[in-house]
Amino acid sequence: MSSTKIVLTAEVVPHVALDFMNNTHFEELDMVQSLGELITDYQQSDNATLSHALKAWYEHTQAHFSRENELMMDIHFPMYPMHSGEHARVLEEMELMVTSWNHNYDIALLSEYVFTAWPQWFEQHVNSMDMVTAQFAVMNGYEPHK
Ligand SMILES: [Fe+2]
Ligand SMILES: [Fe+2]
Repeated sequence: MSSTKIVLTAEVVPHVALDFMNNTHFEELDMVQSLGELITDYQQSDNATLSHALKAWYEHTQAHFSRENELMMDIHFPMYPMHSGEHARVLEEMELMVTSWNHNYDIALLSEYVFTAWPQWFEQHVNSMDMVTAQFAVMNGYEPHK
């Protein structure tokens, strides 16, 4: 396999102006880290464990995006359609990935998603839409450290 393995940690991922958003991002990175370890040491007997971990990751992502969508509505963020639209697109992509895993157990496909496609997207998303959203929230009176 020629794809590059991207490892994102709390130290290297961009930090935004609201702590609660950063904390959610760090939790998500921890989950992806554990998922990555399962994939690296993969054996067929791990299929059910991986399905379980993927379900938990999907649900965490769902809650993560909903909370950001709520924040954007609360502050009347002008780029709401773009940012929430991106959440919807990625959630759908993740759902397809999870469904596909549960049907085919294609470890190469899952590995490409977890180690390359998702980290690339995540870093870029946090560094752009999340960054601007948090900045806008703080400018509109949100407490950064709550
Ligand atoms: Fe986020
Ligand atoms: Fe976001």
